[in-house]
Amino acid sequence: MSQIMINKNKVKVILNPVVLQNLCVMRDKNTDTQNIRIAARKITRCLLYEAATNLPLVKQPVTTPIATFDALTINPDINIIISPILRAGLIFTDEAIDILPQACIRHIGMYRDEQTLKPIWYYNKVPMNAENPTNIYVYITDPMLATGNSMLDAIDLYVSKGIPVSNIKCICIISAPEGLYNIQQKYPDIEIITASIDKGLNDKGYIVPGMGDAGDRIFNTL
Ligand code: URA
Repeated sequence: MSQIMINKNKVKVILNPVVLQNLCVMRDKNTDTQNIRIAARKITRCLLYEAATNLPLVKQPVTTPIATFDALTINPDINIIISPILRAGLIFTDEAIDILPQACIRHIGMYRDEQTLKPIWYYNKVPMNAENPTNIYVYITDPMLATGNSMLDAIDLYVSKGIPVSNIKCICIISAPEGLYNIQQKYPDIEIITASIDKGLNDKGYIVPGMGDAGDRIFNTL
């Protein structure tokens, strides 16, 4: 694990005490599946609220019991995509559609070849043509940003559809410097929202200290 230079301006680390408390719970090897899921959902809320700060606002007349005025709200004419990378990324979806009910969920299926650590695609629920790509805002979710290879493939897919990089954000609970560096090499301006930048990867590609295999721990398949 060597010293890796990353542009911290594009990585938002959410150091909120509630997030840190839940991260502690997630990491602990003695935490059971149910409590890992609960903690992950609580962290998701904070990360997603931060991610949503790029959504464009419009004024909309609202009548309260007291008065009518122009209130700010998310532009109803944009399209929001939550894109979980299967399978661990699924843990974000329930919270995400509660927070942004107008969003659609576009699953991306990739697993990691344990030898090469490269992603292998097995499912792509992203349409071939995106109309009005500048009107689309994408949040790609994966709890663990390790090598960054799967995340890079997912970003490539959305960029190939004409969606501006400034409209795409990566949401990861735990990140490795190697993954952040890898993504920034190709997309220096993309914003990554995370709860932690850990020490680095071990020789098996696991994040240290990390939380082990997030998919196995979330879905009880250890
Ligand atoms: N994926 C995981 O689930 N955990 C890691 O540490 C790295 C990749």
